[in-house]
Amino acid sequence: MATPQLLVGKVCGITGGLTGIGRAIALEYLRHGAKVAVNHLGGTNDDALVEAFHKDATDILLPGEERRFITVAGDISKPETGANFVAKIVETFGRLDVFVSNAGVCQFAEFLDIEPALLDQTVNINLCGAFYATQAAGRQMALQQSPPGGSIIGISSISALVGGGQQCHYCPTKAGVLSLIQSTAVALGKYNIRCNALLPGTIRTQLNDVDMSDEKKRAYMEGRIPLGRLGAPKDLAGPAVFLASDQLSGYVTGAQLLVDGGLFVNLQ
Ligand SMILES: NC(=O)c1ccc[n+]([C@@H]2O[C@H](COP(=O)([O-])OP(=O)(O)OC[C@H]3O[C@@H](n4cnc5c(N)ncnc54)[C@H](O)[C@@H]3O)[C@@H](O)[C@H]2O)c1
Repeated sequence: MATPQLLVGKVCGITGGLTGIGRAIALEYLRHGAKVAVNHLGGTNDDALVEAFHKDATDILLPGEERRFITVAGDISKPETGANFVAKIVETFGRLDVFVSNAGVCQFAEFLDIEPALLDQTVNINLCGAFYATQAAGRQMALQQSPPGGSIIGISSISALVGGGQQCHYCPTKAGVLSLIQSTAVALGKYNIRCNALLPGTIRTQLNDVDMSDEKKRAYMEGRIPLGRLGAPKDLAGPAVFLASDQLSGYVTGAQLLVDGGLFVNLQ
């Protein structure tokens, strides 16, 4: 059965969207009829990923349909990247309706071993990057388009709510993203901009591939998840469509949605 198209004509930007959760959201937004811009870190390592994304994105378009996606390189930890990304989106598609702040890093490390460089990198990408990008999206949605308005989605984490012994540098950044989204919901409500956070549980991506390829660890994790399986990137796509759609979530702002197979409520 054909999926109903809930985002036809909406212009959506997603940071860190060539892999994992961001990629799944970007492709799902395309399936729902949106125009999609994907930020990615850049560099030669990304070439194959850009090519693969372009292929999968093109497959979603109808035969003969004009291309409605772009990919834009830029390091999200730099203050100007968010603004450049939004400028490119507006130059290409004319406005911005939905912005997903997704780019992030997570390297497992023992608390007592963490060096300033790892802490700085994690904070700069996950929290400062989310701040700059969200601010750039907010400026566009609030001040540069008529009527003002939009939907901003921050990819936080279950780690915003619970501790992680090997993630003492990471969890606070995800709590920060949740707090950023709650605060921007307050700041931007008067412009009809909704801001909400998605809190993934354990989703199988390159972020935790090494950790989750340890069979014992994976079985232990799966045993704690009421739905009995790790998440897949696609599991975040539906919730991201819900929060992007005014039709479905027009009165939802400042909210946090766990997408974790029930893991959080089973932590005892
Ligand atoms: N996988 C999980 O279990 C899980 C759980 C909770 C939250 N999250 C969050 O989901 C988001 C996506 O992670 P994922 O699991 O899909 O992993 P991922 O590694 O596939 O995605 C992260 C993306 O961010 C990009 N990125 C990293 N640094 C960047 C920078 N400086 N500038 C631009 N892009 C940059 C990476 O290249 C990558 O494409 C992250 O914010 C992560 O914290 C993931």
